[in-house]
Amino acid sequence: MAIESHVLTVTEVIEETSDAKSVAFEVPDELQETFAYTPGQFLTVAIPSDRTGLAARCYSLSSSPHSGRHQITVKRTADGYASNWICDNVKVGDTLRLLPPSGIFTPKDINADLLLWGGGSGVTPVISIARTALEKGSGKVVLFYANRDQESVIFAGELRDLVAEHPERFTVVHWLESVQGLPSPEGIKLFASYFSTYTSFCCGPPPFMKAVATALKELEVPRERRHQEKFVSLGGNPFGNVEELVAFEEKLAEADDPTEADDVAPTRTPTFAGPVSLEVELDGKHYAFDDWDGSQVLLEYLESKGVDAPFSCREGNCSSCACIVLEGELEMQHNDVLDAEDLADGIRLTCQALPLTELLKISYNG
Ligand SMILES: Cc1cc2nc3c(=O)[nH]c(=O)nc-3n(C[C@H](O)[C@H](O)[C@H](O)COP(=O)(O)OP(=O)(O)OC[C@H]3O[C@@H](n4cnc5c(N)ncnc54)[C@H](O)[C@@H]3O)c2cc1C
Ligand code: FES
Repeated sequence: MAIESHVLTVTEVIEETSDAKSVAFEVPDELQETFAYTPGQFLTVAIPSDRTGLAARCYSLSSSPHSGRHQITVKRTADGYASNWICDNVKVGDTLRLLPPSGIFTPKDINADLLLWGGGSGVTPVISIARTALEKGSGKVVLFYANRDQESVIFAGELRDLVAEHPERFTVVHWLESVQGLPSPEGIKLFASYFSTYTSFCCGPPPFMKAVATALKELEVPRERRHQEKFVSLGGNPFGNVEELVAFEEKLAEADDPTEADDVAPTRTPTFAGPVSLEVELDGKHYAFDDWDGSQVLLEYLESKGVDAPFSCREGNCSSCACIVLEGELEMQHNDVLDAEDLADGIRLTCQALPLTELLKISYNG
């Protein structure tokens, strides 16, 4: 099943650095609700392709939801297809097909003290969080921002402005590899130790994220205050029938190195075939069903029951569909995004989940 996608017009293209561009979209009134987002969420973009019809890629919103903007920021990936296509081709007035905002890399409490970590283009979701927290929240915000060199620092000017506007609340620490070398695990841990009571959001290259995650764990920062976003390319097509997109592609025609998942769950055949007694908590609502036979993954089963469950890639790549298992057990067919600790915490991807037990209780409110 495809998610309903929408074609939006590009209103602005900003050259942030020599290899990164921001792209802003106009969201018409009738789609404002569909495209409402929380800071740290992402859009999924359909990029036309001669080879596959389209390539689907996720891009975090770098704007604050309170600004009224819908802006993504795309950094060229060496030899990458979609990021270079966007940076080379997209201009004001073009249209792009998008899936609505999605993702769980978003603060539950905007008033909390926040420790943000950005590595290169990983700054995109965390600047959205920073902007929102500074505008709407009351806590302190610290950003540790690592880049190759001065020229590759995205949002340098805006970060300076934000610090000037919120000198008591916002601190930015820049780390330049060209000057200081790669940030060491010891240095990251020392830095983090000053803010161990803060809630952490980290996005960047895998070694950077691993060093931050290790430091926070060693500092015994509890799991609910440690969040990370992995940038991976979707392998499949959540947009559905490519034929439907022909008009869009014609218009535009005129013109895995996947992040390692620390521990990927093995693919196995489910050992339980229902019927399952299932209880679900989602957005303050409670559902109970008793005829899931395991012939569909959990997400599809919930959809068949009319539950508006979250999802994006449907491939185990993005974690939009994640739930927490409160009772019972689920088996995932594929997982490119949850690490060992997520799994130990009972987090599962519903788009990949099949039942292993007769009784299951899950919550999306984790
Ligand atoms: C939640 C999330 C948020 C993200 N946010 C951001 C962000 O804010 N900013 C950002 O820059 N990145 C972000 N990313 C990463 C982004 O989605 C892409 O992974 C990144 O831009 C690299 O994509 P790419 O196609 O350029 O490179 P690659 O994925 O490395 O490109 C190579 C791939 O493209 C395929 N390919 C090559 N040629 C073609 C063709 N002609 N047609 C079809 N496929 C082809 C190849 O087979 C190969 O699989 C995010 C990822 C996730 C999951
Ligand atoms: S929808 Fe992306 S992991 Fe399930």
